[in-house]
Amino acid sequence: MVTHGSESYFVIGEGLLAESVGGREGSQNGAAPPPIIAAAATATAAAVPPFRFSRMGPKGVGKQLGEGARKKLGAAMARAGGGSSQIPAGFTYLGQFIDHDLTFDKTDVMLGANVTPAQLLQARSPSLDLDSLYGAGPQDPKSAKFYEADGLHLKKGKTTGPTKNGFDLPRGAGNTVAKKRKAIIPDPRNDENLAVAQTHLAMIRFHNRVVDTQLGGVPAAQKFDKAREIVTKHYQWMIRTDYLPRIAKAAVVNNVFNQGRKAFEVGAAPTDVPTMPIEFSIAGFRLGHAMVRAAYNWNKIFDNGGGTLDLLFTFSATGGNLGSDTRLASIWIADFRRLYDFGEANKPGLEVPASKFNRAMRIDSRIVDPLQHLPPQTVGLPANAGFNDVRRNLAFRNLTRARMVKLATGQQMATFLKSKGVNLTKLTKAQIRDGNNGAELDNLTQAQRQAVLTNTPLWFYVLREAELNGGKLAGVGARIVAETFHRAIEGSEHSIVRDTAFAPTLGPNSSTFRMVDLLLFAFEGKKALLNPNG
Ligand code: HEM
Repeated sequence: MVTHGSESYFVIGEGLLAESVGGREGSQNGAAPPPIIAAAATATAAAVPPFRFSRMGPKGVGKQLGEGARKKLGAAMARAGGGSSQIPAGFTYLGQFIDHDLTFDKTDVMLGANVTPAQLLQARSPSLDLDSLYGAGPQDPKSAKFYEADGLHLKKGKTTGPTKNGFDLPRGAGNTVAKKRKAIIPDPRNDENLAVAQTHLAMIRFHNRVVDTQLGGVPAAQKFDKAREIVTKHYQWMIRTDYLPRIAKAAVVNNVFNQGRKAFEVGAAPTDVPTMPIEFSIAGFRLGHAMVRAAYNWNKIFDNGGGTLDLLFTFSATGGNLGSDTRLASIWIADFRRLYDFGEANKPGLEVPASKFNRAMRIDSRIVDPLQHLPPQTVGLPANAGFNDVRRNLAFRNLTRARMVKLATGQQMATFLKSKGVNLTKLTKAQIRDGNNGAELDNLTQAQRQAVLTNTPLWFYVLREAELNGGKLAGVGARIVAETFHRAIEGSEHSIVRDTAFAPTLGPNSSTFRMVDLLLFAFEGKKALLNPNG
């Protein structure tokens, strides 16, 4: 069973930190679940480590919240979303897609045999190369199944009732219902909910359209690599210029991309294999959890909030069971006009009335209630795990992961970044306590509250920073996220950081390529493709 999040962290210089947040020690006979935290055990580094994490800042020894405080803070954070932002809701799931690209361990789809140690290392390291889309490429025996027979196009799937070709992920391999349902994509996490699955589909279409329109004159043997390079560089450009400035203070993003990194892998040779800082993966980039809505105006059929988060789980095959079918029903195909604002690209014909448009929740210290009760199977729990089992609360899980690896606190990271010359202002205790219409700490005991205010869990800290900054990452959070993205792009095989001459060719001009441009290109600018349900 593939679940979200690492079950163990191989941290460079520290070895393997093991834990037990998931269901492997699930409660028996309905008894109270066992303690969630197992002591972080340091094991000998395996010859080929699992995904390579690193520590950007100091260790948070003696600064971690106890279980009682994590439970109460987790409950306070999951009490209700803090309201809408201005960010179109599609960016939430683009963020989830990007996360899976960054944290994808490609070794599962790589052939063990003729792979060099350097390749193996690369396969277990973060980069923004779209390996969650491409696997190890069409020539690799384990990845060939993602591709059409021509070895160039990525496969798309069919929806049912009425049958529509090309509007779902490819499925149908195997002879059991579960196997037929399973998406044929490198990373099953991209079928964890319908919104991220449809985002993955858009990327499949983007690649295929590049293949169809951009390869004139390219020798046959080089066509795939050329297409991948065009796709990857445009995708990176879109992330750097469109996605990142929406979620983080633009000045910080620009500073990192124009002046370079100050805190993370400073001075690394650009082509050295990057690592993934745990401060990013366990705290900074989990910001996306705050953006998730409880309900969407999904399309004409599931309108007015009819596209609930629970249904988006159900109509996927990792978070649900496609509504007991083996194919997605056509009525569930996304209306991308409701997720992205095509007015930005001056396409009034592709806009929907404001009342139909979905905006992400504000980036703040609250997550919506359904994330308190995650589908058990997505977090490795038995299907009969109690509705209120705390291990189903995503906020609690995030806080618990931090404890497991002794993650630096918000204060420690602020001090650390300042010592590296980053210009930022530490949050005061009053700011951390009061926030700005975010989670309320009233339910914590006096001692628990003091612990939170003194040694603030990094995830909570960066969300407080954002809510005090109009819903965009600032200070510590913005810096961690921008530096990690910069390094992940720099270290990618195709890289717009290294190839400074690159300029996008698939958008309206040579400096613009946004997510709406990517979608317009992928769906040929056609309303009938961006929203086939009318
Ligand atoms: C409905 C949407 C989502 C669900 C249900 C979900 C669920 C989860 C779960 C269960 C975990 C593992 C928790 C643990 O440590 O045990 C996780 C990890 C994580 N999530 Fe999400 N998530 C969602 C959206 C997002 C978004 C939008 C982002 C970022 C923009 C994001 C970023 C991350 C990151 C960085 C991790 C840890 C790294 C990893 O993938 O291994 N998630 N998520």
